[in-house]
Amino acid sequence: MNNAMGELNRRAFCRSAVVAGVAAAATSTAGVAQSQESSAAPATKRAEGAPHLFTPLKLRGVTLRNRIAMSPMCQYSSEDGFANGWHVAHHAARAVGGVGLLIAEATGVTPQGRITPNCLGLWKDEHIPALRKVTEFISEHGAAPGIQLAHAGVKASRHRPFHPTPNAFVPIEQGGWMPVGPTAKRYGQDGPVPRELSVEEIRATTAAFAAAASRSIAAGFRVVELHFAHGYLGHSFLSPLMNERTDPYGGSFDNRVRFLLETVRAVREVLPEDAPLLVRLSCTDWVEGGWTLDESVEISRRLASAGVDLIDCSSGGASRQAQIPIGPGYQTPLAERIRREAGIATGAVGLITEPAQADAIIAEGKADLVLLGRELLRDPHWPHRAWVALKPDAPPPIAREYAWALPELRR
Ligand SMILES: Cc1cc2nc3c(=O)[nH]c(=O)nc-3n(C[C@H](O)[C@H](O)[C@H](O)COP(=O)(O)O)c2cc1C
Repeated sequence: MNNAMGELNRRAFCRSAVVAGVAAAATSTAGVAQSQESSAAPATKRAEGAPHLFTPLKLRGVTLRNRIAMSPMCQYSSEDGFANGWHVAHHAARAVGGVGLLIAEATGVTPQGRITPNCLGLWKDEHIPALRKVTEFISEHGAAPGIQLAHAGVKASRHRPFHPTPNAFVPIEQGGWMPVGPTAKRYGQDGPVPRELSVEEIRATTAAFAAAASRSIAAGFRVVELHFAHGYLGHSFLSPLMNERTDPYGGSFDNRVRFLLETVRAVREVLPEDAPLLVRLSCTDWVEGGWTLDESVEISRRLASAGVDLIDCSSGGASRQAQIPIGPGYQTPLAERIRREAGIATGAVGLITEPAQADAIIAEGKADLVLLGRELLRDPHWPHRAWVALKPDAPPPIAREYAWALPELRR
Protein backbone atom coordinates (compact mmCIF):
# COMPACT_ATOMS: atom_id res chain seq x y z
CA MET A 1 0.00 0.00 0.00
CA ASN A 2 1.34 3.39 -0.90
CA ASN A 3 1.08 4.86 1.61
CA ALA A 4 -0.27 2.12 3.79
CA MET A 5 -3.81 2.05 2.45
CA GLY A 6 -2.64 1.92 -1.19
CA GLU A 7 -5.09 0.13 -3.41
CA LEU A 8 -7.73 0.16 -0.72
CA ASN A 9 -7.59 3.89 -0.23
CA ARG A 10 -7.94 4.60 -3.89
CA ARG A 11 -11.43 3.17 -3.79
CA ALA A 12 -14.01 4.92 -1.74
CA PHE A 13 -16.20 2.51 0.17
CA CYS A 14 -19.88 2.88 0.71
CA ARG A 15 -21.08 2.78 4.26
CA SER A 16 -24.62 1.76 3.39
CA ALA A 17 -23.24 -1.27 1.56
CA VAL A 18 -21.33 -2.16 4.72
CA VAL A 19 -24.52 -2.08 6.76
CA ALA A 20 -26.37 -4.19 4.18
CA GLY A 21 -23.68 -6.86 4.25
CA VAL A 22 -23.69 -6.97 8.00
CA ALA A 23 -27.38 -7.77 8.09
CA ALA A 24 -26.73 -10.78 5.87
CA ALA A 25 -23.92 -11.96 8.13
CA ALA A 26 -25.99 -11.50 11.26
CA THR A 27 -28.78 -13.76 10.05
CA SER A 28 -26.58 -16.77 9.40
CA THR A 29 -25.10 -17.64 12.79
CA ALA A 30 -27.46 -20.49 13.78
CA GLY A 31 -25.83 -23.76 14.71
CA VAL A 32 -22.30 -22.60 14.07
CA ALA A 33 -20.76 -22.68 17.54
CA GLN A 34 -19.60 -26.18 16.76
CA SER A 35 -17.55 -25.18 13.75
CA GLN A 36 -15.43 -22.86 15.84
CA GLU A 37 -14.92 -25.20 18.75
CA SER A 38 -14.19 -28.30 16.75
CA SER A 39 -11.45 -26.65 14.68
CA ALA A 40 -7.73 -27.10 15.26
CA ALA A 41 -7.50 -23.40 16.13
CA PRO A 42 -6.32 -22.66 19.65
CA ALA A 43 -9.60 -21.41 21.13
CA THR A 44 -10.24 -21.40 24.83
CA LYS A 45 -13.56 -22.70 26.22
CA ARG A 46 -16.58 -20.49 25.58
CA ALA A 47 -19.16 -20.08 28.29
CA GLU A 48 -22.56 -21.27 27.08
CA GLY A 49 -24.50 -18.48 25.39
CA ALA A 50 -21.55 -16.09 25.43
CA PRO A 51 -20.84 -14.22 22.20
CA HIS A 52 -18.06 -15.83 20.23
CA LEU A 53 -16.39 -12.46 19.80
CA PHE A 54 -15.68 -12.30 23.52
CA THR A 55 -14.19 -15.77 23.83
CA PRO A 56 -10.52 -15.54 24.84
CA LEU A 57 -7.96 -16.79 22.31
CA LYS A 58 -4.78 -18.53 23.43
CA LEU A 59 -1.77 -18.19 21.14
CA ARG A 60 1.25 -19.88 22.76
CA GLY A 61 1.74 -18.16 26.15
CA VAL A 62 -0.52 -15.21 25.40
CA THR A 63 -4.26 -15.30 26.08
CA LEU A 64 -6.16 -12.53 24.32
CA ARG A 65 -9.21 -11.43 26.31
CA ASN A 66 -11.35 -11.42 23.17
CA ARG A 67 -11.17 -11.87 19.39
CA ILE A 68 -10.90 -8.17 18.55
CA ALA A 69 -7.54 -6.86 17.33
CA MET A 70 -6.51 -3.42 16.20
CA SER A 71 -5.08 -3.78 12.70
CA PRO A 72 -1.66 -2.15 12.28
CA MET A 73 -2.05 1.42 11.13
CA CYS A 74 0.80 3.78 10.27
CA GLN A 75 0.58 7.01 12.21
CA TYR A 76 3.38 8.74 10.29
CA SER A 77 4.22 10.69 13.42
CA SER A 78 7.73 9.62 14.42
CA GLU A 79 11.03 11.41 14.10
CA ASP A 80 14.01 9.15 13.40
CA GLY A 81 11.81 6.12 14.17
CA PHE A 82 11.09 7.09 17.78
CA ALA A 83 7.69 6.59 19.43
CA ASN A 84 6.26 9.58 21.28
CA GLY A 85 3.16 10.78 23.12
CA TRP A 86 0.99 10.28 20.04
CA HIS A 87 1.80 6.58 19.97
CA VAL A 88 1.00 6.25 23.65
CA ALA A 89 -2.35 8.02 23.21
CA HIS A 90 -3.28 6.09 20.04
CA HIS A 91 -2.72 2.70 21.67
CA ALA A 92 -3.95 3.70 25.13
CA ALA A 93 -7.35 4.74 23.80
CA ARG A 94 -7.93 1.36 22.10
CA ALA A 95 -6.58 -0.63 25.06
CA VAL A 96 -8.97 1.18 27.38
CA GLY A 97 -11.64 0.75 24.70
CA GLY A 98 -11.51 -3.02 25.22
CA VAL A 99 -9.49 -4.34 22.26
CA GLY A 100 -7.83 -7.72 22.94
CA LEU A 101 -4.70 -7.34 20.78
CA LEU A 102 -3.15 -4.13 19.52
CA ILE A 103 -0.73 -4.40 16.62
CA ALA A 104 1.45 -1.32 16.34
CA GLU A 105 2.03 0.09 12.87
CA ALA A 106 4.51 -1.09 10.22
CA THR A 107 7.81 -0.50 12.01
CA GLY A 108 10.97 -0.23 9.96
CA VAL A 109 13.61 -2.87 10.63
CA THR A 110 16.11 -0.56 8.91
CA PRO A 111 15.95 3.19 8.27
CA GLN A 112 15.56 2.45 4.53
CA GLY A 113 12.71 0.06 5.38
CA ARG A 114 10.38 2.90 6.40
CA ILE A 115 7.59 3.98 4.07
CA THR A 116 8.08 7.61 5.10
CA PRO A 117 10.65 9.49 7.17
CA ASN A 118 7.90 9.62 9.86
CA CYS A 119 7.35 5.88 10.33
CA LEU A 120 8.21 4.04 13.54
CA GLY A 121 11.48 2.11 13.66
CA LEU A 122 13.25 -0.56 15.67
CA TRP A 123 16.64 -0.64 13.96
CA LYS A 124 18.52 0.50 17.07
CA ASP A 125 18.36 -0.19 20.80
CA GLU A 126 17.70 3.50 21.48
CA HIS A 127 14.15 3.00 20.13
CA ILE A 128 13.26 0.59 22.94
CA PRO A 129 12.51 2.86 25.95
CA ALA A 130 9.89 5.02 24.18
CA LEU A 131 8.08 1.92 22.91
CA ARG A 132 8.14 0.45 26.41
CA LYS A 133 5.88 3.32 27.53
CA VAL A 134 3.37 2.22 24.88
CA THR A 135 3.48 -1.47 25.83
CA GLU A 136 3.31 -0.86 29.57
CA PHE A 137 0.07 1.08 29.26
CA ILE A 138 -1.48 -1.48 26.92
CA SER A 139 -0.60 -4.36 29.25
CA GLU A 140 -1.85 -2.54 32.37
CA HIS A 141 -5.25 -2.30 30.69
CA GLY A 142 -5.60 -5.96 29.85
CA ALA A 143 -4.74 -5.93 26.16
CA ALA A 144 -1.82 -7.69 24.51
CA PRO A 145 0.77 -5.42 22.86
CA GLY A 146 1.83 -6.54 19.38
CA ILE A 147 3.98 -4.95 16.72
CA GLN A 148 4.26 -5.28 12.95
CA LEU A 149 7.84 -5.44 11.69
CA ALA A 150 8.25 -4.22 8.14
CA HIS A 151 10.44 -3.19 5.26
CA ALA A 152 8.82 -0.94 2.68
CA GLY A 153 10.99 -2.14 -0.23
CA VAL A 154 10.24 -0.39 -3.53
CA LYS A 155 7.53 1.70 -1.84
CA ALA A 156 9.96 3.41 0.56
CA SER A 157 10.94 7.07 0.90
CA ARG A 158 7.52 8.61 0.37
CA HIS A 159 5.93 11.67 1.92
CA ARG A 160 3.29 10.95 4.54
CA PRO A 161 -0.37 11.25 3.46
CA PHE A 162 -0.84 14.56 5.27
CA HIS A 163 2.21 16.21 3.62
CA PRO A 164 1.39 18.92 1.03
CA THR A 165 2.54 16.44 -1.68
CA PRO A 166 1.12 13.21 -0.22
CA ASN A 167 2.82 9.93 -1.20
CA ALA A 168 5.32 11.69 -3.50
CA PHE A 169 8.89 10.40 -3.53
CA VAL A 170 11.10 12.19 -0.99
CA PRO A 171 14.20 13.21 -2.96
CA ILE A 172 17.48 11.92 -1.56
CA GLU A 173 18.83 15.47 -1.13
CA GLN A 174 15.77 16.22 1.05
CA GLY A 175 16.31 13.31 3.44
CA GLY A 176 14.92 10.51 1.26
CA TRP A 177 16.76 7.35 0.25
CA MET A 178 17.06 4.88 -2.63
CA PRO A 179 14.29 2.24 -2.49
CA VAL A 180 15.32 -1.39 -2.91
CA GLY A 181 13.46 -4.51 -4.01
CA PRO A 182 13.82 -8.00 -5.41
CA THR A 183 13.95 -6.43 -8.88
CA ALA A 184 14.91 -3.00 -10.21
CA LYS A 185 11.30 -2.20 -11.09
CA ARG A 186 9.30 0.86 -10.07
CA TYR A 187 5.84 0.53 -8.51
CA GLY A 188 4.51 4.06 -9.03
CA GLN A 189 5.09 6.70 -11.67
CA ASP A 190 7.56 8.92 -9.81
CA GLY A 191 10.84 8.44 -7.99
CA PRO A 192 13.95 6.58 -9.10
CA VAL A 193 14.01 3.00 -10.36
CA PRO A 194 14.67 0.96 -7.19
CA ARG A 195 17.92 -0.92 -6.75
CA GLU A 196 17.89 -4.73 -6.88
CA LEU A 197 19.04 -6.30 -3.60
CA SER A 198 22.07 -8.61 -3.69
CA VAL A 199 21.85 -11.99 -1.98
CA GLU A 200 24.06 -10.63 0.84
CA GLU A 201 21.65 -7.71 1.30
CA ILE A 202 18.65 -10.07 1.41
CA ARG A 203 20.33 -12.04 4.18
CA ALA A 204 21.21 -8.81 6.01
CA THR A 205 17.52 -7.81 5.82
CA THR A 206 16.50 -11.14 7.33
CA ALA A 207 18.99 -10.47 10.14
CA ALA A 208 17.51 -6.98 10.59
CA PHE A 209 14.03 -8.52 11.02
CA ALA A 210 15.41 -10.85 13.69
CA ALA A 211 17.24 -8.04 15.51
CA ALA A 212 14.08 -5.92 15.48
CA ALA A 213 12.08 -8.90 16.81
CA SER A 214 14.51 -9.17 19.74
CA ARG A 215 14.14 -5.47 20.42
CA SER A 216 10.35 -5.82 20.25
CA ILE A 217 10.45 -8.29 23.12
CA ALA A 218 12.84 -6.01 25.05
CA ALA A 219 10.32 -3.21 24.52
CA GLY A 220 7.52 -5.30 26.09
CA PHE A 221 5.69 -6.48 22.98
CA ARG A 222 4.23 -9.95 23.43
CA VAL A 223 3.16 -10.62 19.85
CA VAL A 224 5.20 -10.02 16.70
CA GLU A 225 3.74 -9.77 13.20
CA LEU A 226 5.84 -9.81 10.01
CA HIS A 227 4.53 -7.59 7.21
CA PHE A 228 4.52 -9.64 4.00
CA ALA A 229 1.60 -7.81 2.38
CA HIS A 230 0.62 -4.71 0.40
CA GLY A 231 3.50 -4.68 -2.08
CA TYR A 232 6.17 -3.95 0.50
CA LEU A 233 9.47 -5.81 0.50
CA GLY A 234 8.25 -9.15 1.88
CA HIS A 235 5.26 -9.37 -0.45
CA SER A 236 7.33 -8.17 -3.42
CA PHE A 237 9.46 -11.32 -3.15
CA LEU A 238 6.32 -13.51 -3.19
CA SER A 239 4.57 -11.87 -6.12
CA PRO A 240 5.68 -12.70 -9.67
CA LEU A 241 4.40 -9.24 -10.61
CA MET A 242 7.19 -7.67 -8.55
CA ASN A 243 9.86 -10.38 -8.40
CA GLU A 244 11.63 -11.08 -11.68
CA ARG A 245 14.82 -12.55 -10.19
CA THR A 246 16.46 -15.58 -11.75
CA ASP A 247 18.54 -16.56 -8.69
CA PRO A 248 17.40 -18.73 -5.71
CA TYR A 249 15.11 -15.87 -4.52
CA GLY A 250 12.99 -15.65 -7.69
CA GLY A 251 11.17 -17.70 -10.28
CA SER A 252 9.61 -20.86 -8.85
CA PHE A 253 7.24 -20.86 -5.88
CA ASP A 254 9.95 -22.39 -3.69
CA ASN A 255 12.34 -19.60 -4.63
CA ARG A 256 9.84 -16.75 -4.18
CA VAL A 257 8.90 -17.93 -0.66
CA ARG A 258 12.55 -18.39 0.39
CA PHE A 259 12.93 -14.87 1.87
CA LEU A 260 9.73 -15.31 3.91
CA LEU A 261 10.66 -18.73 5.26
CA GLU A 262 14.22 -17.68 6.08
CA THR A 263 12.94 -14.59 7.85
CA VAL A 264 10.36 -16.56 9.82
CA ARG A 265 13.02 -19.06 10.94
CA ALA A 266 15.43 -16.28 11.95
CA VAL A 267 12.73 -14.44 13.88
CA ARG A 268 11.36 -17.59 15.54
CA GLU A 269 14.88 -18.36 16.73
CA VAL A 270 15.15 -15.12 18.72
CA LEU A 271 11.55 -15.03 20.00
CA PRO A 272 10.78 -16.63 23.34
CA GLU A 273 8.91 -19.94 22.98
CA ASP A 274 5.76 -18.39 24.46
CA ALA A 275 5.64 -15.40 22.09
CA PRO A 276 3.18 -15.78 19.18
CA LEU A 277 4.40 -14.99 15.68
CA LEU A 278 1.93 -13.71 13.07
CA VAL A 279 2.45 -13.14 9.36
CA ARG A 280 0.36 -10.68 7.35
CA LEU A 281 0.00 -11.87 3.77
CA SER A 282 -1.60 -10.30 0.75
CA CYS A 283 -3.42 -13.57 0.12
CA THR A 284 -4.10 -12.66 -3.49
CA ASP A 285 -2.86 -9.95 -5.86
CA TRP A 286 -6.32 -9.88 -7.52
CA VAL A 287 -4.51 -9.86 -10.89
CA GLU A 288 -4.02 -12.56 -13.50
CA GLY A 289 -0.42 -13.78 -13.27
CA GLY A 290 0.03 -12.50 -9.72
CA TRP A 291 0.30 -14.21 -6.30
CA THR A 292 -2.72 -16.44 -5.75
CA LEU A 293 -4.86 -17.71 -2.90
CA ASP A 294 -3.74 -21.27 -3.73
CA GLU A 295 -0.16 -20.15 -3.13
CA SER A 296 -1.21 -18.50 0.14
CA VAL A 297 -2.74 -21.78 1.31
CA GLU A 298 0.47 -23.65 0.50
CA ILE A 299 2.79 -21.12 2.14
CA SER A 300 0.51 -21.01 5.21
CA ARG A 301 0.98 -24.78 5.65
CA ARG A 302 4.75 -24.29 5.54
CA LEU A 303 4.56 -21.28 7.87
CA ALA A 304 2.59 -23.34 10.39
CA SER A 305 5.40 -25.92 10.36
CA ALA A 306 7.98 -23.15 10.77
CA GLY A 307 6.36 -21.90 13.99
CA VAL A 308 3.94 -19.21 12.80
CA ASP A 309 0.78 -19.09 14.90
CA LEU A 310 -1.67 -17.04 12.85
CA ILE A 311 -1.97 -15.70 9.30
CA ASP A 312 -3.38 -12.17 9.11
CA CYS A 313 -5.22 -12.29 5.80
CA SER A 314 -5.08 -9.10 3.79
CA SER A 315 -4.74 -8.66 0.03
CA GLY A 316 -3.58 -6.44 -2.84
CA GLY A 317 -0.82 -3.89 -3.15
CA ALA A 318 1.36 -5.47 -5.84
CA SER A 319 -0.38 -3.95 -8.85
CA ARG A 320 -2.40 -0.88 -9.66
CA GLN A 321 -4.44 -3.07 -12.04
CA ALA A 322 -5.88 -5.13 -9.16
CA GLN A 323 -9.66 -5.57 -9.25
CA ILE A 324 -10.47 -5.65 -5.55
CA PRO A 325 -14.08 -6.56 -4.71
CA ILE A 326 -14.35 -3.97 -1.93
CA GLY A 327 -17.37 -4.49 0.31
CA PRO A 328 -18.23 -5.61 3.83
CA GLY A 329 -15.86 -8.33 5.00
CA TYR A 330 -14.43 -8.68 1.47
CA GLN A 331 -11.22 -10.37 2.62
CA THR A 332 -12.87 -12.74 5.11
CA PRO A 333 -13.20 -15.58 2.52
CA LEU A 334 -9.39 -15.54 2.24
CA ALA A 335 -9.05 -16.11 5.99
CA GLU A 336 -11.74 -18.79 5.87
CA ARG A 337 -10.07 -20.83 3.16
CA ILE A 338 -6.58 -20.65 4.68
CA ARG A 339 -7.97 -21.62 8.10
CA ARG A 340 -9.82 -24.58 6.62
CA GLU A 341 -7.12 -25.87 4.28
CA ALA A 342 -3.81 -24.96 5.90
CA GLY A 343 -4.58 -25.96 9.49
CA ILE A 344 -3.52 -22.64 11.00
CA ALA A 345 -5.39 -19.92 12.87
CA THR A 346 -6.30 -16.87 10.79
CA GLY A 347 -7.28 -13.26 11.24
CA ALA A 348 -9.93 -11.62 9.04
CA VAL A 349 -9.56 -7.95 8.15
CA GLY A 350 -11.19 -5.44 5.85
CA LEU A 351 -14.47 -3.59 6.32
CA ILE A 352 -15.48 -5.41 9.46
CA THR A 353 -17.50 -2.72 11.16
CA GLU A 354 -20.51 -4.19 12.96
CA PRO A 355 -20.65 -6.32 16.12
CA ALA A 356 -22.97 -8.99 14.65
CA GLN A 357 -20.80 -9.23 11.54
CA ALA A 358 -17.64 -9.70 13.63
CA ASP A 359 -19.31 -12.22 15.96
CA ALA A 360 -20.57 -14.25 12.98
CA ILE A 361 -17.07 -14.46 11.48
CA ILE A 362 -15.82 -16.11 14.67
CA ALA A 363 -18.98 -18.16 15.27
CA GLU A 364 -18.98 -19.59 11.75
CA GLY A 365 -15.34 -20.60 11.98
CA LYS A 366 -14.25 -18.22 9.22
CA ALA A 367 -11.41 -16.81 11.32
CA ASP A 368 -10.05 -16.92 14.86
CA LEU A 369 -9.56 -13.18 15.19
CA VAL A 370 -11.09 -10.10 13.60
CA LEU A 371 -8.85 -7.12 12.93
CA LEU A 372 -10.41 -3.69 12.72
CA GLY A 373 -8.66 -0.68 11.26
CA ARG A 374 -10.69 2.38 10.37
CA GLU A 375 -13.64 1.45 12.57
CA LEU A 376 -11.35 1.66 15.61
CA LEU A 377 -10.13 5.06 14.43
CA ARG A 378 -13.76 6.17 14.33
CA ASP A 379 -14.56 4.66 17.69
CA PRO A 380 -11.86 3.45 20.09
CA HIS A 381 -14.66 2.07 22.27
CA TRP A 382 -16.03 -0.18 19.52
CA PRO A 383 -15.50 -3.32 21.68
CA HIS A 384 -17.75 -1.83 24.34
CA ARG A 385 -20.36 -1.01 21.73
CA ALA A 386 -20.11 -4.63 20.59
CA TRP A 387 -20.44 -5.72 24.20
CA VAL A 388 -23.71 -3.83 24.59
CA ALA A 389 -25.01 -5.13 21.23
CA LEU A 390 -24.14 -8.78 21.81
CA LYS A 391 -25.04 -8.85 25.52
CA PRO A 392 -22.55 -11.24 27.08
CA ASP A 393 -23.16 -12.29 30.70
CA ALA A 394 -19.76 -11.53 32.12
CA PRO A 395 -18.82 -7.97 33.10
CA PRO A 396 -17.29 -5.89 30.32
CA PRO A 397 -13.55 -5.26 30.19
CA ILE A 398 -13.93 -1.59 30.92
CA ALA A 399 -11.59 0.55 33.02
CA ARG A 400 -12.96 1.25 36.50
CA GLU A 401 -12.38 4.96 35.88
CA TYR A 402 -15.23 4.78 33.33
CA ALA A 403 -17.22 1.72 34.38
CA TRP A 404 -18.84 3.21 37.49
CA ALA A 405 -20.30 6.00 35.36
CA LEU A 406 -21.74 3.77 32.62
CA PRO A 407 -24.57 1.71 34.09
CA GLU A 408 -25.58 0.33 30.67
CA LEU A 409 -22.33 -1.64 30.65
CA ARG A 410 -22.92 -3.21 34.08
CA ARG A 411 -24.44 -6.70 34.07
C1 LIG B 1 -4.37 4.95 8.51
C2 LIG B 1 -4.06 3.57 8.07
C3 LIG B 1 -2.78 3.07 8.19
C4 LIG B 1 -2.49 1.75 7.83
N1 LIG B 1 -1.24 1.23 8.07
C5 LIG B 1 -1.00 -0.08 7.90
C6 LIG B 1 0.20 -0.67 8.36
O1 LIG B 1 1.03 -0.03 8.99
N2 LIG B 1 0.38 -2.00 8.12
C7 LIG B 1 -0.57 -2.76 7.49
O2 LIG B 1 -0.35 -3.96 7.30
N3 LIG B 1 -1.73 -2.22 7.09
C8 LIG B 1 -1.98 -0.92 7.31
N4 LIG B 1 -3.20 -0.40 7.00
C9 LIG B 1 -4.27 -1.32 6.54
C10 LIG B 1 -5.12 -1.76 7.76
O3 LIG B 1 -4.33 -2.47 8.69
C11 LIG B 1 -6.30 -2.64 7.34
O4 LIG B 1 -5.81 -3.81 6.78
C12 LIG B 1 -7.21 -1.93 6.33
O5 LIG B 1 -7.47 -0.61 6.75
C13 LIG B 1 -8.53 -2.67 6.17
O6 LIG B 1 -9.21 -2.74 7.39
P1 LIG B 1 -10.44 -1.74 7.77
O7 LIG B 1 -11.45 -1.84 6.67
O8 LIG B 1 -10.93 -2.25 9.08
O9 LIG B 1 -9.87 -0.36 7.88
C14 LIG B 1 -3.50 0.93 7.31
C15 LIG B 1 -4.79 1.44 7.16
C16 LIG B 1 -5.08 2.74 7.55
C17 LIG B 1 -6.50 3.24 7.45
